[in-house]
Amino acid sequence: MKKIIITIDGYSSCGKSTLAKQLAAQLDYVYIDSGAMYRAITLYFIQNRVDWTNHDAVKEALHDIHLEFEFNPISQVSEITLNGENVEHMIREMLVAEKVSEVAAVKEVREFAVAQQQKMGVKKGIVMDGRDIGTTVFPDAELKIFMTADAAIRVERRFKELYAKNKNISIHEVKENLELRDYIDTNREISPLRKAEDAIILDNSQLSQDEQLKLVIQWVEDATLVQ
Ligand code: DC
Repeated sequence: MKKIIITIDGYSSCGKSTLAKQLAAQLDYVYIDSGAMYRAITLYFIQNRVDWTNHDAVKEALHDIHLEFEFNPISQVSEITLNGENVEHMIREMLVAEKVSEVAAVKEVREFAVAQQQKMGVKKGIVMDGRDIGTTVFPDAELKIFMTADAAIRVERRFKELYAKNKNISIHEVKENLELRDYIDTNREISPLRKAEDAIILDNSQLSQDEQLKLVIQWVEDATLVQ
């Protein structure tokens, strides 16, 4: 079957990465978590006290950031490295989550990330999730999905995920963080989160993961057939 580019965009905690990982495994595609790149850049800025409101400081710092994805045979997914160090766990912490939308709104940061993302798609056979993948990174992708789910369901899902790792987290904190991130991601000036005109909407509020995967595999088959 001919390989295509699949983009998955949508609000925070819709289950984009879960779907993307399942699709990549089933289709033998490469999965790229574009949000992990913005998170790793944010982590670097926090660790190195880079002021991301200062464009010159950002430009200079970006020269020292090297991001790569490495396939982990145990987790069976690609994990992000920042200057050679695997930061997959660190970038999921609240400290990063609280700042990542601000950092992801910076023009130089987006140009840096988007250029690398576009290179990763040259050979196709890729599933990439994020906020602007179908609109800006791969506007000509063969299959574009825009994911959404009820806000309360998204908060509950993210809370369960974070609580499993950190019992000190409150549902209120998670709700506030999600709402704020969605607000900043949707209202920023450069590449705001929006549905590409030719994207298919996938509302998974009432779908099981199996039902969802079955549906999307059908979309992939349809999109591949018309190539
Ligand atoms: O998907 P995620 O929650 O890991 O993304 C983290 C943040 O990065 C999110 O708040 C918005 C930003 N992001 C973005 O601006 N563009 C992307 N393509 C992916 C993520």
